[in-house]
Amino acid sequence: MDLRRWRTAAVATLIAAGTLVTPQAHAQKPDLALTPPMGFNNWNSTHCRNDFNEDMVKGIADIFVTKGLKDAGYEYVNIDDCWALPERDANGDLVPHPVRFPNGIKAVADYVHSKGLKFGIYTSAGTKTCNKEGGFPGGLDHEVQDAKLFASWGVDYLKYDNCNNQGVDAKLRYTRMRDALNATGRKIVFSLCEWGQNKPWEWAKDVGHLWRTTGDISDNWNSMVSIAKRNMELADFAGPGHWNDPDMLEVGNGGMTDLEYRSHFSLWSIMAAPLLIGADLRKVTPETFEILENREVIAVNQDKLGLQGKVIRNEGGNHVLVKPLSNGDKAVLLFNENDSAATMSATASELGLSQASGYKVRDLWAKTTTHTANAISAALPPHGSAMFRVSKADDWYRYPPTVTTAANGEVLYPGALPIVQPGRTVTYTTSVTNAGRLPIALVQATLQVPQGWSAKATTTSFKAILPGEKSFRTTWQVTVPQNAQAGRFPVNASFTFHSPHENNPVTRQYSTEALVPGAAPKGELFVSDLKWLRSANGHGPVETDTTNGEAKQGDGGPITIRGKVFAKGLGTHAPAHVEYYTGGNCTKLTATIGIDDKKVNPLSLVSYEVWADNRLVHDSGPVTGTDAAKSLEADVSGATVTRLIVKDGGNGKSYDHADWADLRITC
Ligand code: GLA
Repeated sequence: MDLRRWRTAAVATLIAAGTLVTPQAHAQKPDLALTPPMGFNNWNSTHCRNDFNEDMVKGIADIFVTKGLKDAGYEYVNIDDCWALPERDANGDLVPHPVRFPNGIKAVADYVHSKGLKFGIYTSAGTKTCNKEGGFPGGLDHEVQDAKLFASWGVDYLKYDNCNNQGVDAKLRYTRMRDALNATGRKIVFSLCEWGQNKPWEWAKDVGHLWRTTGDISDNWNSMVSIAKRNMELADFAGPGHWNDPDMLEVGNGGMTDLEYRSHFSLWSIMAAPLLIGADLRKVTPETFEILENREVIAVNQDKLGLQGKVIRNEGGNHVLVKPLSNGDKAVLLFNENDSAATMSATASELGLSQASGYKVRDLWAKTTTHTANAISAALPPHGSAMFRVSKADDWYRYPPTVTTAANGEVLYPGALPIVQPGRTVTYTTSVTNAGRLPIALVQATLQVPQGWSAKATTTSFKAILPGEKSFRTTWQVTVPQNAQAGRFPVNASFTFHSPHENNPVTRQYSTEALVPGAAPKGELFVSDLKWLRSANGHGPVETDTTNGEAKQGDGGPITIRGKVFAKGLGTHAPAHVEYYTGGNCTKLTATIGIDDKKVNPLSLVSYEVWADNRLVHDSGPVTGTDAAKSLEADVSGATVTRLIVKDGGNGKSYDHADWADLRITC
């Protein structure tokens, strides 16, 4: 035996004996998660409540099978924080919580496996996990022992959190656990959960199969949208076996409407995000199952090409995302982030499809198929979205033309509600667009307004033939009675037309709103004493005269900036906006701004803006948690609507408790 062969044989013997593990054997993670992981995790629905237990985990595994979720692709049943006791045992092993898991973790994993599913667990790359009751011992410096224990239980997925990391370098902490998992010989999906703090997308491709890109999601629209927007920017870093993770789904937890949950699910799907259900499926509605089991949407998420959909356009919160698919089709999401309805469109060439006589457009939520000559468009309600699969098709003429309808009132700035004073008139425009190649016929538009209001068409509302690639618009004068009460009122358009493929006339509805303002404010006033028109906030609601408390209305403490307490003001959390009707009556707005003492953190970073309708009249620039309170003065002369906006400073929206202390307006 020559020396080289002898050395190879000796090394092989040592590896087999388990005394030597070659660095090469460690360097690569196993080939897993070639499409984004799909499954369940309890955290978003239970946190550490008592209903997180063995029964729940088994119940979810059962439902995965009985309700068809397993067949739809959901595979992992994962448990989060609070599964273990606060102390290790005499051998230094983690101990399952005896009340939640009286039969241990292996028994639960076995049950999950018996259903043909996989089982996942959680710990932290720190000395303790994250939960507020103190956590259980984390994996830092126990990587090998904990990984072995998990493997012995049959764990298939590990979520590895970031709390109590003692300042140890993130790459080191996560690589150590990757190596420990690999050394067990079990194939375990490795999910990094360091909230995007150390830009894992730049270094974790060979470490984990997915990495969180943001802080924790909560079950509300603003949280979901701000996380989605951060994750969109990272599209280039995702691919088979290494995904951006914008956190687990909230679909079904009750804090958003089904329409909003459809947008949430569509966004996660087109972004090739992991689809980990975060609701207790034993308690959800049929609509929740319908969303989670939309197989055509899931197919976009799970497409084997593994590209994350990219934003090709964003016009003031109207986002167009495109995801190329392995068979040459393009998935497209038209997503309306705003509080007002919008009609959005994109063209086949913008999506990256080559020239063709026509395209087939499959609406993945409405489950309809139409054809288009070029444009793909949809009329979207506030917070709505439309998701399509678009393909080149020689037989496009087999499908009816794509027709989009819309109604819009005159607005002061993009995304605003149309405002109309009692006794005054506002202009609305309705439109019907035929994006196909075949004509539609007998097109009739009508506009319905509340009782006592009037709507008069000032151009024709009927069109006998609307050829392909043409639009038809009608202008309406909507008059509000002198005695109208203040409030938001429905203005609904409806349309009928004949399509070459339908026997009966097609009807379409389009709902919008008009706002009748109350009296404009007068005098020197605290803004927090006025009623806002609309507000939105990054965490929980905007608070009046207290700081933001993150959850329910009224849960914030006194507004406090660098030790000084203020009796009046607004408590917001980036990203936030609050709109007031000022009716052209006010001049000066003043405030003392700063991050509230309650949550000052090195990550606190926001900027404050004041807008008079569509004019930016004050921009504070960056405000950090250590900055002294600043005074703000803005000229809001002439503003019908005065808008207060807080933006996240660009480092994620954690700890962004932005106070508007002593906020006054002169009218
Ligand atoms: C962190 C994670 C969450 C969850 C909790 C558990 O906040 O980001 O996803 O795991 O810890 O305590």
